[in-house]
Amino acid sequence: MDLSVVILAAGQGTRMKSPLPKVLHPIGGKPMLAHVINTAKALNPQQIIIIHGFEGDLVKQTFHDADLTWAEQPHRLGTGDAVAKALPHIPAHHRVLTLYGDVPLIAVDTLKRLLTATPTEDVGLLTALATDPTGLGRIIRNEKAKVVRIVEERDANDIEKQIHEVNTGIFVVTQSLLARWVPQLKNNNAKGEYYLTDIIQMAAQENISVATSVPSVVEEVLGVNDKSQQVTAERYYQRHVAENFLKDGVCISDPARFDLRGSLQAEPDVVIDVNVVLEGHVSIQKNSRIGPNCVLINCKIGENVSVLANSYLEDVVIGDNCSVGPFARLRPGTQLDQDVHIGNFVEVKNSNIGQGSKISHLSYIGDTVMGKAVNVGAGTITCNYDGANKHRTIIDDGVFIGSDTQLVAPIKIGKEATIAAGSTVVKDVPADKLTMTHQLQQRSIEEWQRPTKLATVTHSHASSLEKDVVPVEKVKSK
Ligand code: UD1
Ligand code: CA
Repeated sequence: MDLSVVILAAGQGTRMKSPLPKVLHPIGGKPMLAHVINTAKALNPQQIIIIHGFEGDLVKQTFHDADLTWAEQPHRLGTGDAVAKALPHIPAHHRVLTLYGDVPLIAVDTLKRLLTATPTEDVGLLTALATDPTGLGRIIRNEKAKVVRIVEERDANDIEKQIHEVNTGIFVVTQSLLARWVPQLKNNNAKGEYYLTDIIQMAAQENISVATSVPSVVEEVLGVNDKSQQVTAERYYQRHVAENFLKDGVCISDPARFDLRGSLQAEPDVVIDVNVVLEGHVSIQKNSRIGPNCVLINCKIGENVSVLANSYLEDVVIGDNCSVGPFARLRPGTQLDQDVHIGNFVEVKNSNIGQGSKISHLSYIGDTVMGKAVNVGAGTITCNYDGANKHRTIIDDGVFIGSDTQLVAPIKIGKEATIAAGSTVVKDVPADKLTMTHQLQQRSIEEWQRPTKLATVTHSHASSLEKDVVPVEKVKSK
């Protein structure tokens, strides 16, 4: 039988206390609804219908996917009313699987099991045994253990509240049954809403079996209604992702301190130390190591690379055998060839750094093309900005730049040139020569004495607020 998946995503999510619609809040850097859509797609259904409502345009704009059908629910009258808005889009011969946009971690395997375990003409319901069932719909079974209805927390009596078997919100039913039952839903309950869950009672009354199955792990059906549940789902998600990398031979030093907010492609024997945050798309080739507290956003990292502690890398490509950090910042457009060394407190932006070049300490290199085997001394700065425009610096192979040099762009430094420490270079530099921009006249002063520690005295004629600082010697000789 053909399958339509309906995803309920119209709610505001009042308990999130946020202007952002709940289903757009992220888990693992992606909106919750994106997780549910991806899972739905993996089932290869004939169509996916998303019910949108609160900030619906924003929700719709977030997913530019031609394969999705959008149905608007103008007023939040409950999950039953939401499904009513999907019905006109569902052909009569379809089975319907309902998913909730705020239950983001449901796994494809669990849904496949639910679909196969449910005889086509029956209702299939995914339930779970919750340690703490507070806030969830409880599954009511009769003396023969058959499901007869679902009671929402607010409508439950004290005995029903003791039940730990809960509704996940996920079920499968034929279009024809759904089309018959949904218009009959009533809103005479504690919330005054049309509860989709009431169709279970209708099934029981018509003697249609409700087959239940359970998720592989209970965390899959965590509903996210507030920020506390969001971080619970987030931590479960991260641990699950980390465990999968561990199985593939990628060493995640501590799965509890791993955060992937995008996608990661990592080869075996990559080590990712604690508190590393990965965003966008990151790929890391074999034997590379990411030190503690690093942030990597859209990075392509080669083999045998060391990114040392506390480095921040965004939109960069790093060749094999490079070493970066600790405390390095590589900004968008940075490309390191092989064997490059970037040391501590170095910032590189929009620059290509040639093979074997070294920028070891306290430097800013921006809008630069650097050749091979260049040595950049501590405190070197490319002055790339004149207040209005950015200019390029070109440094040829084998250049040696002394410490504390400023290169005022646009500028070209010729091959194998040496620049003396402390130079402010404003013109192109010829190859092979030593260039300096100052006349060094070093001298030593014989009678010079080191200054001594200062004491504070108050002059009698000065106002009480005015204080003068006089060297200790002078105070003594008075
Ligand atoms: C719902 C179930 C409850 C179940 C729980 C599982 C009902 C009546 N209750 O409760 O049995 O245990 O999920 O997580 O179904 N939505 C709409 N339009 C609406 C109302 C809700 O699209 O008018 C969407 C929301 O955006 C959300 C989903 O439906 O994605 C669930 O709604 P929510 O209000 O969170 O229901 P719960 O109280 O969690
Ligand atoms: Ca919910």
